[in-house]
Amino acid sequence: MSRKKIIAGNWKMNVKPSETAALIKAVAEATAEYGDKVEIVCCTPAIDVPAAVDAAAGTKVGVGTENCHWKESGAYTGEISTGMIVDAGCHYVITGHSERRQYFGETDETVNLRTRAAIAAGLTVMMCIGETLEERDAGKLEEVIVRQMNVGLKDVTAADCAKLVIAYEPVWAIGTGRTATPDQAQEVHALIRATLAKLVGEETAQTVRIQYGGSMKPGNAAELLAKPDIDGGLIGGAALKAADFAGIIAAAANA
Ligand code: PGA
Repeated sequence: MSRKKIIAGNWKMNVKPSETAALIKAVAEATAEYGDKVEIVCCTPAIDVPAAVDAAAGTKVGVGTENCHWKESGAYTGEISTGMIVDAGCHYVITGHSERRQYFGETDETVNLRTRAAIAAGLTVMMCIGETLEERDAGKLEEVIVRQMNVGLKDVTAADCAKLVIAYEPVWAIGTGRTATPDQAQEVHALIRATLAKLVGEETAQTVRIQYGGSMKPGNAAELLAKPDIDGGLIGGAALKAADFAGIIAAAANA
């Protein structure tokens, strides 16, 4: 089963609207030759989206947001709906990022609501899961991953999986410079695919892309992306420099 690699930047709360067009254009230029082989995405702060969509027009770079709400509209101060995200010209959204879980009260249940709303709106959703260092050290890795998937993907059907990407991000590797080894990552990616097979069937599970995230850089991307169940990356820090992001995309194109 060949799955097209997907490399997505997660800009987090970095990059101002006035800086956005330059970064998108630099990424598009540096990665133009890989656009047919690799799905390239930049997920930006919501306020940067108009500038990002405008700059990405006519390029192979897709634009997404870093979160979405599950209600279509209403009194939810500070939130953005999937309808708004689509209307703004985005095709992607991240749900369940560990920083949302850690700082903004995101739970497996709300991740499920956001993920289902995104799929229903026709967005490709990158649903993040991953264990903390305490959980890993306590031998709870499998328990945590399976729970995050069982709850996060409740009522997600095999047909819905055409719009689903799972991002495995060990919390201890995010922004720390500490990357999971390729073998450590592959072990969890295989567990994720096996869990997915139980939820939606083996055939569908083989089609779903699983990204690795956590200090992925040009220097370590190739060995991670060479693993059989690692189908892409969700990139924080290295997505803020076009040359670094392009280096990871080049590794994906050659994987
Ligand atoms: P990092 O972030 O690449 O800076 O570790 C990854 C992420 O949080 O998605």
